[in-house]
Amino acid sequence: MKIKKVLVTGGAGYIGSHTCVELLQEGYDVVCADNFVNSSPIAMDRVAQITGKTIPVHELDFCDYPAVKKFFTNETVDAVIHFAGHKAVGESVENPLKYYENNLLSLINLCKAMGKDIRKNLVFSSSATVYGFPDQLPIEEDSPVDSFNPYGRTKLFIEQILQDIWATDNAWNISILRYFNPVAAHPSGLIGEDPAGIPNNLMPYIAQVAIGRLERLRIFGADYDTPDGTGVRDFIHVVDLAKGHVAAMRKLETSPGLMVHNLGTGRGYSVLELVNTFAEVNNVQVPYEIVGRRPGDVAANYASTDKAKKELGWEAQCGIRQMVLDTWNWQSKNPNGYSFD
Ligand code: NAD
Ligand code: UD1
Repeated sequence: MKIKKVLVTGGAGYIGSHTCVELLQEGYDVVCADNFVNSSPIAMDRVAQITGKTIPVHELDFCDYPAVKKFFTNETVDAVIHFAGHKAVGESVENPLKYYENNLLSLINLCKAMGKDIRKNLVFSSSATVYGFPDQLPIEEDSPVDSFNPYGRTKLFIEQILQDIWATDNAWNISILRYFNPVAAHPSGLIGEDPAGIPNNLMPYIAQVAIGRLERLRIFGADYDTPDGTGVRDFIHVVDLAKGHVAAMRKLETSPGLMVHNLGTGRGYSVLELVNTFAEVNNVQVPYEIVGRRPGDVAANYASTDKAKKELGWEAQCGIRQMVLDTWNWQSKNPNGYSFD
């Protein structure tokens, strides 16, 4: 079945906004629904500025089932890409119910409402966090899964829920995408990552140190069993990641059933390599200090990309230099993200 119209939940967020751009540029009709709990409607104006296309944006909380049901009575879409959810690991440890409620309920409400329709095409944002502490690298999709925090468990539970839904009703076509470490921004510098408060993740932290909003980066551990002792991650440019969603959507048109794919580059870089490349390529200072390990961190992880290449015909194109360049372009043009104060 040809997919023409796509609902992007959480479409105003970091990955959602970049995916809206790629979908529009590929000629899809796009509808966005978001409750803006962690995003700004300005992102959607910027999407329109980049693409020259304005899309309908609905303020909608996916935890509100009557509202979700009403939305689907008024809008007919061929597929849904579900980004809406909370994503901060530390906060999920402090407030697990917030995570279980929002992430699980929004998914359940969405699937219940979609289940009343014949177009049961869904792409879901999972995470490499479901691999826990990997026992082999690169990580393949059939590696054992585990999780050590409530955020990660919401991803694992949802993957299981989707397996169960599909097992009872093969009319569903479901793509589970396990992202590695999304970074960077659209090369226009108009959309990018705008974390609320102090960033938890490495790249936005580096960018905010470089712009002078934060004093120095703390590198969590330099005593790992890695080439320079700092953690190694598979950083993937958010535009490549967004294109991975378009590839997954195309695959859904062939009624593949339930699929699981890694979205990564297959190449790991250390924290120090990223910091040094950022400083060198952008000609900026990134002061840092080495501190103790962060609990729950793995030494190294990077994806096996073979399955996505073979089955989705997709592979990441951007290297680390492009990633740091585009991050700085976004950060320096928008020092306070989407807020102008
Ligand atoms: P984000 O916070 O920027 O985007 C999520 C969007 O969902 C936000 O716009 C938020 O307002 C919206 N939202 C949250 N709860 C909602 C609800 N109940 N109803 C409607 N809208 C709601 O996060 P992101 O980085 O774009 O991540 C998107 C998805 O990808 C999330 O599910 C996240 O867990 C997953 N993911 C992200 C990363 C990452 O590093 N960014 C890595 C792996 C997986
Ligand atoms: C983290 C989450 C993961 C989630 C992903 C995307 C944890 C344990 N894992 O992955 O579940 O899917 O974000 O949201 O939180 N680092 C520093 N200093 C910093 C920040 C990070 O040294 O200020 C290091 C970390 O120790 C790690 C690397 O940078 O080695 C990457 O960290 P981060 O960007 O937070 O991503 P992950 O931990 O890989």
